[in-house]
Amino acid sequence: MKSHRILIVDDDPDIRETMTTLLTVNEYAVTAVADGPSAIEEVSREKYNIVITDLMLPQMDGIEIIKNIKNIDADVQCIIITGYATVTTAVDAIKAGAFDYVMKPFNGTEILMLIKRVLEFQRLKVENVQLRRHLEGRYSYENMIGVSEGIKKVCTLIEKVAETDSTILILGESGTGKELVARTIHYNSLRRNKPLIPINCGAIPESLLESELFGHEKGAFTGASSTRIGRFELADGGTVFLDEIGEMSPTLQVKLLRVLQQREFERVGGVKSIKVDVRIIAATNINLEKAVEEGRFREDLYYRLNVIPIVIPPLRERIEDIPLLMEHFLNNFSRSKKRKMEGFSPESMNILLDYAWPGNIRELENLIERVVILKGEGAITPQDLPDKVVNSVRGNSSVFLSLPDSGINLKDVIEEFENNLILQALQKAQGVKNKAAQLLSLNRTTLVEKLKKKKIDYHINA
Ligand SMILES: Nc1ncnc2c1ncn2[C@@H]1O[C@H](COP(=O)(O)OP(=O)(O)OP(=O)(O)O)[C@@H](O)[C@H]1O
Ligand SMILES: [Mg+2]
Repeated sequence: MKSHRILIVDDDPDIRETMTTLLTVNEYAVTAVADGPSAIEEVSREKYNIVITDLMLPQMDGIEIIKNIKNIDADVQCIIITGYATVTTAVDAIKAGAFDYVMKPFNGTEILMLIKRVLEFQRLKVENVQLRRHLEGRYSYENMIGVSEGIKKVCTLIEKVAETDSTILILGESGTGKELVARTIHYNSLRRNKPLIPINCGAIPESLLESELFGHEKGAFTGASSTRIGRFELADGGTVFLDEIGEMSPTLQVKLLRVLQQREFERVGGVKSIKVDVRIIAATNINLEKAVEEGRFREDLYYRLNVIPIVIPPLRERIEDIPLLMEHFLNNFSRSKKRKMEGFSPESMNILLDYAWPGNIRELENLIERVVILKGEGAITPQDLPDKVVNSVRGNSSVFLSLPDSGINLKDVIEEFENNLILQALQKAQGVKNKAAQLLSLNRTTLVEKLKKKKIDYHINA
């Protein structure tokens, strides 16, 4: 298949002919013209991958031609052929935007190799652009799914802070999307072409964390056989994402504080101070304020990190996002796993809306992946959902129970169901039994009897 187009510009008909033959037999689509104006006309008309032009031409020289062509199509690569390979011509040609130059007399192999190199370069360039777009696309705001006030607030905040260099502290329960928010910020910041280096403060053993973060010099400790660059140094110009910051040991908290204050540190076993330009984004699912009160987290570090807090609400507080997320994951998994799913039945939708989602979006994502794999096709019904989800009772919306294959103890389940609702009513009524009874459409006496029988002793704030 002749897919790559090459334009030859030479006033010598013999060269035009030999080149055309050489390239045609090598499966390139070739056009040959004799002068600059015809070359420019060709490039405006057709998409070419490569233009090979002679330097010395009667009306317009090769360098002029390249400049003009590059103006029309910046992606086309030009090769100049010159009989006088002086340093000046070579430099001029490259300055004008040529990919490379070839000296006369040249042989066919030389030209073919060069063409291959150009095409490879173009391929990588396209791939790179696609990859970058893909990455940026992955973390554009559209990937933050949700219509709730809570998620809208998060998005507005991200938009406001992304282009600044401010330190960000992301707070939210497990699985709420803290890492997604961190990535969205980085890929929408001016640092997006520099690295985003994640550091999971909870997953790296304490003994290794310091060297992971700051690197070490050769011989700093047993096993340090060579110098190692730490993650802060790797992130220079970009962003460091300190995940699970609440798990950081007290000694490291001190060292981190210094980096945040001075943007400099030493490698383990080193004396030279290393300066870096990094933005810090930290995240945690623990209550840092409480950790500070309890002396587990340094107060000064907390204030350094808590410049701009972004709080991601748990999924149970933004129920209106659940259907959108369900649809999003169902489409994604159906596509990636090549299954034909047909959405959720109303009963299953109700169960999922009613569930408390302690593992938040990650739990929802995992559940849908599992259902797509196990079910394979058709609409999702309560039978396809895990027992844990189906049997959980929450909130005041109607509850649909489905009998698990393993069966249940009817008495126990009803008892638990009843207790749960009574407790919720008492909570809502702040312990006022009259009001709680009303909420359950019971007489006060019936409720009091039930409480006695069930040995429920309800106190406010209990
Ligand atoms: N608003 C959202 N829209 C779409 N997908 C989301 C959203 N929030 C989170 N996710 C997805 O949910 C999963 C969990 O998110 P993420 O890993 O960012 O959570 P996390 O808060 O860092 O969790 P953990 O505390 O467990 O580390 C990811 O696959 C992420 O892409
Ligand atoms: Mg995370």
